[in-house]
Amino acid sequence: MNRRYTTLGAGAAAVVLGALLILASQVAVIAAPSAAPAPQAAATSTPLTLQQLSDIQPGLGTIMIEYGHRMAALWFAGQAANWDLAQYQLTEMREIQEVAETTRPARAPALKSFESSFLDPLEEQIKAKDKTKFESAYNSAIQGCNSCHGSQISADWPQGFAFIKVQVPKDSLESIYAYTP
Ligand code: HEC
Repeated sequence: MNRRYTTLGAGAAAVVLGALLILASQVAVIAAPSAAPAPQAAATSTPLTLQQLSDIQPGLGTIMIEYGHRMAALWFAGQAANWDLAQYQLTEMREIQEVAETTRPARAPALKSFESSFLDPLEEQIKAKDKTKFESAYNSAIQGCNSCHGSQISADWPQGFAFIKVQVPKDSLESIYAYTP
């Protein structure tokens, strides 16, 4: 065998070996699932019912925590003239509000009315980047939050939720809560 054929032969052997290695790795991949441990049992053995899925959606109290948090961040964004952040927080408020309108449809009309009466004007001032008018629209919106709290009732709270009061935040996001009864 001359040297040229020897080299070719070695090359061909390398190609065949390479192909075999690739094949082997694929076989390993294909074989892997059967070698893997049985899948872990799910938390519940039966699929959740629609009722259960519905029961684990956030109610208004949970959503309001986010709503209030974003409303407070909106104030500080406006104070810093960070109008993009202000717009972002307001858009997120509208989005989380939609979840509440779906999970608590009885509250949807009041939420929608708050949105058009107070969030729309607030957005106008964000777009106008007018700090003074923004502050005034914000103050009105805070009053709108509280008047809705006073007007809404539930089986546990037939007297309404007037005790949940918010204010223009002072120095932290949390300070949007007004604790004095
Ligand atoms: C539909 C009328 C309505 C509007 C508008 C509304 N809220 Fe509420 N909010 C409620 C109700 C009802 C609750 C009590 C939730 C429950 O069912 O447990 C509540 C609860 C809250 C809570 C208490 C959350 C907690 O558990 O600590 C905060 C904070 C809050 N709202 C902030 C706001 C802010 C800020 C605004 C305005 C930007 C606002 N809300 C607008 C109806 C409203």
